[in-house]
Amino acid sequence: MTTLHNALSPQLHRLITQMPKAELHIHIEGSLEPELIFALAQRNQVQLPFESVDALRKAYAFTDLQSFLDIYYAGASVLLKEEDFYDMAYAYFERAAADGVVYAEVFFDPQTHTERGVSMQTVIHGLVRAGKAAHQQLGLECKWIMCFLRHLSQDSAFETLEAAQPYLEHLLGVGLDSSEVGHPPEKFSDVFQRARQWGLKVVAHAGEEGPPAYIWSALDQLQVARIDHGVQSIHDEQLMARLAKERIPLTVCPLSNLKLCVYDDLNLHPIKRLLDLGLCVTINSDDPAYFGGYINDNYLHTFASLGLDERDAIAFAKCSFEASFMTPSQKDHWFSKLDELASKLGAV
Ligand code: HPA
Ligand code: ZN
Repeated sequence: MTTLHNALSPQLHRLITQMPKAELHIHIEGSLEPELIFALAQRNQVQLPFESVDALRKAYAFTDLQSFLDIYYAGASVLLKEEDFYDMAYAYFERAAADGVVYAEVFFDPQTHTERGVSMQTVIHGLVRAGKAAHQQLGLECKWIMCFLRHLSQDSAFETLEAAQPYLEHLLGVGLDSSEVGHPPEKFSDVFQRARQWGLKVVAHAGEEGPPAYIWSALDQLQVARIDHGVQSIHDEQLMARLAKERIPLTVCPLSNLKLCVYDDLNLHPIKRLLDLGLCVTINSDDPAYFGGYINDNYLHTFASLGLDERDAIAFAKCSFEASFMTPSQKDHWFSKLDELASKLGAV
């Protein structure tokens, strides 16, 4: 990975690490650090297929999305009790708040847990309690997006949506994640329609490894408000024009793309080209415990690799609020804060 020393000016480093930002693409199960996985395994008497924290970390040499997901689901097997979900989520909020995250829309994967006999109530109560504590103690506001695992059936997604009905007040929306290729968005058209009818926001992973056609289908069949990843749109001019014109945001995760071998080097990443083409593009961590860094690491490595500047930093932070489901007046509040920061620096 890029060495950061000397690559960024102290001023740019300070701006990136201190500016307020929103995180919109983080899987809470992907924030489970190896140390916490082992602590929870011990607390819950779960046998792990790894000898030690170091052995587990050594296994984080991924070749593609599936090679990561196999380990990610094994890591999540230690989560059994409400307290486990609380501890995992609160640990993420502490790290995010230290990175200047003031607002997060966070994914969770209930099927990973309900398939092991953990109830929807256990999952949601633990997460929601951590979110409330983070708001009170860290000043970080969070909303929850429940993802359907796309390698499972639409029937299973429907069951999951129904199991979540008693907790709808705690959900901002639904999303779609897990193994992309071979599981196109239209497989879930009906369940997404139901979710929209229930008043939930809808987003979907598309164009991470899958083709631009999956992004078109997420837009047209699922009617998503936002695309998670979406980097493969760079291969489709018409699609990029539409995303730019309609300001449909992409939640991009550069270190994830690097670790899952979507790009061999961050200096090949298209994020700056997408931004310059007028798309609303954001920087996020995806699964920070597995991909080598939290949100600021994603900003810093991307900026160092692509030679980006203060103006880009402010642009990405503004996109993060624009792309969120905050109210317009909340967005205006953060746009003004960023404008103040930029004018102090003479960045825009
Ligand atoms: N892609 C798809 N599914 C996921 C990811 C991802 O990057 N992270 C966790 N589940
Ligand atoms: Zn993701």
